[in-house]
Amino acid sequence: MTSFDELTLETLRARACMKWTYYPELHPERDILPLWVADMDFPPADPIAAALAERAGSGNLGYPAGYLTGEPGLRESLVSWLSTRHGWTVEEGDIWPVHGIIPGLYLSALACASAGEGVVMQSPLYPPFMSSVNDTGRVAQYNPLVWTGARWELDLAGLEAAITPATRLLMFCNPHNPSGRVFTRDELEALAEVVLRHRLWVVADELHSDLVYPGQQHIPFASLSDEVAQRTLTLVGPTKSFNIAGLKIGFVITQNADLLARLKGVGAGLVTPPNVMAQAAAKAAYTEGGPWLADTLSYLQGNRDRVTRFVEDYLPGAAYAGAEGTYLAWLDLRGLGLGDALYDRLLSCGVGLNEGRHNGPGGDGFARLNFATTGAIVEEALERMRVGLGLG
Ligand SMILES: Cc1ncc(COP(=O)(O)O)c(C=O)c1O
Repeated sequence: MTSFDELTLETLRARACMKWTYYPELHPERDILPLWVADMDFPPADPIAAALAERAGSGNLGYPAGYLTGEPGLRESLVSWLSTRHGWTVEEGDIWPVHGIIPGLYLSALACASAGEGVVMQSPLYPPFMSSVNDTGRVAQYNPLVWTGARWELDLAGLEAAITPATRLLMFCNPHNPSGRVFTRDELEALAEVVLRHRLWVVADELHSDLVYPGQQHIPFASLSDEVAQRTLTLVGPTKSFNIAGLKIGFVITQNADLLARLKGVGAGLVTPPNVMAQAAAKAAYTEGGPWLADTLSYLQGNRDRVTRFVEDYLPGAAYAGAEGTYLAWLDLRGLGLGDALYDRLLSCGVGLNEGRHNGPGGDGFARLNFATTGAIVEEALERMRVGLGLG
């Protein structure tokens, strides 16, 4: 593996990718370090690159075998990964390979609630959660996370208050984007109690579940009990953990066969199987990607700690806790008192972060920083913020 430290700004700026082309197109006159959209600047694992080259070289680029189930070995590789990594047993028949997680969110909104019915979610949120509810005519109900002084937590009393007789679905994100929380078993069990009592469906977006730092453990929501599993659709995939988001692949998993059939019905003709290159990459990731992921997580942990030190030194009192999972830092910049001018001010500093005001209730005054880049770029971005925001 090439050391990630060897990546240069010149190489990254030459990439035709969303992260590095967005700001030059928007503000050609400004020098902005893009620490925004959630992919990593790192090249993927060698076995993934090799699997892609082999598939391209094989000339076998027609429709995949197993049109609705994925190619031989695809679901098997995920079954084995989930069992080894997360202690969660699922059957191949519980898995539906699709071309991304966002389609899974939309399908869940359509399949689990009718137009006008409620979907409750913990904000601040990854914006497509809200779009999937609003675009399908369902009603968004918010249950913001609460800051306890040490970390962001679920507000179960607030959840009870947000749920109405029209609420049908909980959209849950764990590890949570953007807060970086990895919820504990106790927290998940308390949440499950509310869900079961109100007979809600759950879509558990666990796309970041392999990006969890030492000291934390990801627990699949559906693994809590058979009863919970029967009400849960889980969304996972290799795209965040292995940095292959451009390949477009994800998996819908549920042990409730009727629910899976309903989802497939809603998606008929709209949802495509993942393309053959994505399937080859996913299989390689799940069977041979473990060592790369371990190295990458330890590199990311170094960057996470850089951001944490920065907050401790220059943003004392901020509602911030270093990410337990994900490569995202949810920065509380409310203390600067800039209101919406914050976001232009950040650009003036020369850093491009995601604007918290787009993450739903509780997001104003926050910004999401993606630290999946080189340590040098993270240091430079933080220094630009220190100087540009007048932090001392
Ligand atoms: C929690 C979460 N869900 C879904 C997605 C998007 O997944 P996909 O690109 O497979 O649609 C992201 C991307 O950042 C994400 O963070």
